[in-house]
Amino acid sequence: MNDKIIIKRSDFIFAKRLLWKMRNGNTKFDEREFMAKGRDYLFNYAEKNAGPLDPGRRAFLKGLLIGIGVLAVASAVPLVSSLNPALVSLKKFPWMIIVDSDGKPIEASKFPVNDPTIMLFQYPLLGDITFLINMGDENNKPVEIKPTTVVIPENGHTYTFPGGVGPYKSIVAYSAICQHLGCTPPEIHFYPPQYFKPGGVVPNFLPSVAYNAAVSANAKSVIHCDCHGSTYDPWHGAAVLTGPTVRPLPYVELYWDSNTDYLYAVSMNLHAPPIMDHPSDLVGAAYLDSYDETTGCPKLIVQKNQTPTNCYTKVQSDGNTFGGSS
Ligand code: FES
Repeated sequence: MNDKIIIKRSDFIFAKRLLWKMRNGNTKFDEREFMAKGRDYLFNYAEKNAGPLDPGRRAFLKGLLIGIGVLAVASAVPLVSSLNPALVSLKKFPWMIIVDSDGKPIEASKFPVNDPTIMLFQYPLLGDITFLINMGDENNKPVEIKPTTVVIPENGHTYTFPGGVGPYKSIVAYSAICQHLGCTPPEIHFYPPQYFKPGGVVPNFLPSVAYNAAVSANAKSVIHCDCHGSTYDPWHGAAVLTGPTVRPLPYVELYWDSNTDYLYAVSMNLHAPPIMDHPSDLVGAAYLDSYDETTGCPKLIVQKNQTPTNCYTKVQSDGNTFGGSS
């Protein structure tokens, strides 16, 4: 039996953010108050500085206190490295059908255009949350997203974004983990084109520098991170519009089966920067929840006409199952 602690990537990122805040002079963790008030102080501090605490995250913090001890937390000993998260890896990118929260496959032609609530799915590993966006104009008419060359400001390298898929070639998928320091939704979110049309009202959270950068790049909507202001251009491969990020959002390559109207996540571009904090897109904190190590539902292919499943069953090793480009 594997007795290594495996933590969710989202908790790992949360712990890193918490530690960063604890060490930051402006949000310094008050050790004395913590010693006096105990875990309630830690919970309040974490909620205020690192994001909302749902019951799962409270349990995670409680586990930290038990696992590494109150004194370690109080002195902000590198709590993240003490977690020693076990990394898991995939040999290849799985083909995974994209389903809604009821497990029903998403049908591309019915997928809402410009939906600011945005569908999120995880790919290729647990916690690798990804935006699925049906791009459209200010009248919510789908717009084709063309292939483009994306520049990585960090090193000047480039890679190719293959464009949108679906009946209008308008559906794209980008990592929802900010490439700056890893903020996730709702801090990073999609602003639809309604804000950018003439006379549109610029939302409070979108600074004018981001708005102006989008207008100059001919981006009619943006993905913006409220944590420190990074802005990405979903019309052009999630290229960087404003820093502090120096890396575009990685994209997930999609395949649209025109017979069933279903969408599949099939790969990621190894020339693009990997998802924030990953050494590679094929390595992460844990397998998807649907990956069952004991019963062996690992590694997947959803064959054409096979009952849709979110589970990996076999690594794709025989080329393109669907006969399209891969
Ligand atoms: S984490 Fe998104 S801008 Fe810093």
